[in-house]
Amino acid sequence: VAEVSVNLGVNSYTIHIGSGIIASIGQLMCKMELTNKVLIVSDDNVSKLYGDYVVNLLSQAGFTVELFSVAPGEDSKSMRVAMELYTRAIEMGLDRSSSIVALGGGVVGDLAGFVAATYLRGLSFVQIPTTLLAQVDSSVGGKVAVNHELGKNLIGAFYQPRLVVIDIDMLNTLPDRELYAGLSETIKYGIIADQTLFNYFIDNHQQILVKEPVVLTEIIRRCCEIKAQVVERDERESCVRMMLNFGHTIAHAIEASTGFSLYNHGEAVAIGMYGAALLSYQLGLCKKNVVDDISMIIEKFKLPLFAPECKVDTLLPYLERDKKTVGGKTKWVLVSSVGQVKINSDVPENIIRHILEQVTHKQKA
Ligand SMILES: NC(=O)c1ccc[n+]([C@@H]2O[C@H](COP(=O)([O-])OP(=O)(O)OC[C@H]3O[C@@H](n4cnc5c(N)ncnc54)[C@H](O)[C@@H]3O)[C@@H](O)[C@H]2O)c1
Ligand SMILES: [Zn+2]
Repeated sequence: VAEVSVNLGVNSYTIHIGSGIIASIGQLMCKMELTNKVLIVSDDNVSKLYGDYVVNLLSQAGFTVELFSVAPGEDSKSMRVAMELYTRAIEMGLDRSSSIVALGGGVVGDLAGFVAATYLRGLSFVQIPTTLLAQVDSSVGGKVAVNHELGKNLIGAFYQPRLVVIDIDMLNTLPDRELYAGLSETIKYGIIADQTLFNYFIDNHQQILVKEPVVLTEIIRRCCEIKAQVVERDERESCVRMMLNFGHTIAHAIEASTGFSLYNHGEAVAIGMYGAALLSYQLGLCKKNVVDDISMIIEKFKLPLFAPECKVDTLLPYLERDKKTVGGKTKWVLVSSVGQVKINSDVPENIIRHILEQVTHKQKA
């Protein structure tokens, strides 16, 4: 069992990580003085696997519990589904002393968190993230949102949970492709902030792929710690938090230009990290071995380096439209060595073109 505290003044909270730790959810919530009614939000895949179990745990701990399960997938992160949740919340008489619990991946976490942030101007929010991506990324940092037809995550808030409970055993039912997608974000943490973590991935990649509990707990703990530290320095995303965007500039372009269907987020980020590493090398910021180490670990975790289905001219406009673009210039997060990144907003277009050509051709430079 590991604990990570996220220190944000009155919004501080603890992330509990461990094998089988969900069994103590009732106790943990009571300790936080969360009592009264609970609305659990989940999706149909996750609620089939863990819904009854979590409902029972909380009922036994004295809570009045209801479970609301949405259809799996990004489409549920919508105002329409949020509205259904408000209706259920009103019908079950949730008040300011009640809680909303997210039981699922990032979709459920973002949706439930958005409802928790806005219903009655905010009630207690608890995260039980069940995908690796949600465990190391979306459940830490307090960004909650729903999508708009015209763009992802456009309607949202910064809203911190009171408690995060990460049971790594829940990853046993996660499809492999989703596991790899989460690993992509974990690699990112190594690259941006921690060479020791990066080396740990190299040394333990076999154990990670078979979900060895001690190793998994350690990487999740470390990733949460890194994200927490970044968020503590920059809760509302002005500058420091930008480094979390490593690999995401190209990733967003790949995802958007392929209609969010061909690659999942983690796969797009893997390609984007490789592209960002190539770009860093091209600009003379890092040595060639940094690119090699990054591409090696991406491949070890069964993630792609290339997006041969994408075209340079289709990707380029999406780079400019990226929400991290400031004053018309794309802000690139670049790597100088593993564990160290820099922001550069002055990359000439011909160089970006050259990099995009490399990541859309299935051949290593
Ligand atoms: N708030 C943030 O800071 C932040 C950060 C990163 C991503 N996100 C958001 O997260 C979302 C993606 O999250 P995700 O990758 O977790 O996707 P997801 O929530 O869609 O989950 C992926 C799939 O795995 C299934 N699943 C989840 N847990 C399972 C388990 N334990 N066993 C079996 N199946 C399981 C789900 O039903 C779903 O089909 C996106 O909407 C993205 O915008 C938010
Ligand atoms: Zn991401």
